[in-house]
Amino acid sequence: MTVKEKVLDRLGREKDSISGEKLAAELGVSRTAVWKAIRELQGEGYLFEAVQNRGYKLLASPEFSAAALVRELDAERSELGDSLQAPERFASLGTLVLGETESTNKVARELAAQNAPETLILAAKQTAGRGRLGRSFYSPDGSGLYMSLLLYPGCAAADASVITTVAAVAVCRALERLDPSLKPEIKWVNDVYIGGRKVCGILTEGQVDFETGTLAFAVPGIGVNIYSPSEGWTPDIKNRAGAVYSEPHGELRVRLAAMIAAEFFRYYPSLKISDFIGYYREKMFLTGMEVTVVPIGGETYPAVVRGVDDELRLIVDDGKELKRLASGEVSLKL
Ligand code: BTN
Repeated sequence: MTVKEKVLDRLGREKDSISGEKLAAELGVSRTAVWKAIRELQGEGYLFEAVQNRGYKLLASPEFSAAALVRELDAERSELGDSLQAPERFASLGTLVLGETESTNKVARELAAQNAPETLILAAKQTAGRGRLGRSFYSPDGSGLYMSLLLYPGCAAADASVITTVAAVAVCRALERLDPSLKPEIKWVNDVYIGGRKVCGILTEGQVDFETGTLAFAVPGIGVNIYSPSEGWTPDIKNRAGAVYSEPHGELRVRLAAMIAAEFFRYYPSLKISDFIGYYREKMFLTGMEVTVVPIGGETYPAVVRGVDDELRLIVDDGKELKRLASGEVSLKL
């Protein structure tokens, strides 16, 4: 084996980082030879964790690279063809693939500040993944897909929530196409569930142009738990979180990210609710269920879900009247 192959083999079998010194000693080569091998591997598309003084940790192989993402996006363009609303806009989508970053949504916002074109950002690991309502989103490497789309939708700020819903629809459609045996469902507003557990969360961030009342940019950020993390779920989410697959099925992140982006472009840029409301209602599993409504900043109350109206509001019956909820959360009565 060459030094490069030895380094790759050793790092591929290690969960933690290994210092250059230790690697060199174990492999019986110089530290300079290790450093050179790492540089060559980086040139071939391998991504390493970028923490100084902690040594090397392999985050992703060339299968998880910008080149692979471009290939998958091209394949999606051929596959979906006429179903895409703006094929030329989809074709010119920029790509950015990162090993480790704080949050792909944060990266997208930074790109927006530089007037970057519409871009799909993908990371192997997030160190400060953001969730809805100020929560964090657990983003370990290897088991999850973390992606954000930087978009310039030009729509009214009031329509920002439609972007999140389209993202949820896109995730469901992509999962069904990836593996027809999967049965993804949507929990209002935009969580994707499989087998009663949340496998995907979506957080849309953006900026309003106050002069025009339109969105200057929007960043739907999508996190999908593809596999259960080997170290298990954190205590705060272990009762609700699930994964698409319980066992590893190989590198699916790049393909799934491209599929989600393509499915999103079935409904973007027009973002017309009537184009996807039928599918959304079919997948939204709360209808008929008893839930606890958790209004933002308000008192919780029990209710029965009656459905979703044409403006994507949840219709609930609290025993006295029908209410239409435009925001907030509902939790399931166990
Ligand atoms: C939620 O369920 O509360 C929403 C979670 C959204 C997580 C994704 S992962 C990619 C993108 N970057 C982030 O920091 N958050 C979103």
